[in-house]
Amino acid sequence: MNELPKRVRIVEVGPRDGLQNEPSHVSADVKAELIERLIDAGVRYVEAASFVSPKWVPQMADGAQVLERVRDKARATRTTLAALVPNMKGLDAALASHVDEIAVFAAASESFSQKNINCSIDESIARFEPVIVAAREANVRIRGYVSCVLGCPFEGEIAPQAVARVAKTLFDMGCYEISLGDTIGAGTPRKTQAMLDACIEHIPVDALAGHFHDTWGMAAANVHAALQRGVAVFDGSVSGIGGCPYSPGATGNAATEDIVYLCEGMGIETGIDLNGLAQAGAFISTALKRETSSRVARALEAKRQRQEKQCI
Ligand code: HMG
Ligand code: MG
Repeated sequence: MNELPKRVRIVEVGPRDGLQNEPSHVSADVKAELIERLIDAGVRYVEAASFVSPKWVPQMADGAQVLERVRDKARATRTTLAALVPNMKGLDAALASHVDEIAVFAAASESFSQKNINCSIDESIARFEPVIVAAREANVRIRGYVSCVLGCPFEGEIAPQAVARVAKTLFDMGCYEISLGDTIGAGTPRKTQAMLDACIEHIPVDALAGHFHDTWGMAAANVHAALQRGVAVFDGSVSGIGGCPYSPGATGNAATEDIVYLCEGMGIETGIDLNGLAQAGAFISTALKRETSSRVARALEAKRQRQEKQCI
């Protein structure tokens, strides 16, 4: 077991990974208000948009408007705004919106790569090369995702070495951080640690992030397992919204509220106010007409209602 980190950085992906896959669409104004509420709660990194083909993911078509509306507040609070980019067309749009960072996304599974971005893993890497060069020339940092790190919806098991190979390639190409995505949310703590061990052989642990979907209810357990390997960056989706449109049956990410509660409970700082975060989650759940998936947010709300009754 490595030493536990004293502080973790939360990457809030709800406005992108969350809203890209909700059946109810929300307006750019609602997305912007969500991001502002997250910033008010202390979130300092938001993946706010996705410049992918609107034919593939229509929910993300208004990224430029969302970024325009939140830019001043993000600048004033030194909040990083990032966007997902699959190719040069996406990069041009992201640069026109003055994002601070972009994220490119590859997969450890050939079938998922084909379904998600219509090309093989190697073709995707070749496609990212000019994107990364141009982003660096524009002084925009690049984060890299690897999907299907703990299983693929089409191929099943994925070898940890296959994950490490793609992660190392992206890292060597210039991604400063590699977010390891359990796209289908089927991972367990033991598998998480085996996959991380394979990656840590090639990439410093402080350049790795955990991105766990919660389909099988293991996301918080997997965050805990990754903390024990020294990982100190976690992607979360407020209220646990979302999933990947090209990963059938997968639910949203680890709810950010649950990650914050877990970390703070272990004495690990997040810099985020849990009550403010849960209020941002309640805002977007209401807008989407759905219940929160965060157990922590539900417990907080139940506690608030009990206290209210006692006051009456
Ligand atoms: P394609 O059809 O092979 O590409 O799609 P194309 O170059 O032939 O373009 C097709 C059309 O899309 C053309 O328009 C292009 O101009 C347009 P048309 O001529 O037909 O009118 N187009 C674009 N429009 C706007 N922005 C762009 C863009 N690129 C092309 N950037 C492509 C290839 C990669 C574009 C497509 O497959 C795509 O957009 N895929 C995105 C899928 C996606 O967003 N999935 C969810 C995100 S990944 C994820 O959630 C996993 C993650 O969370 C980690 C984890 O959990 O594992 C990150
Ligand atoms: Mg995801």
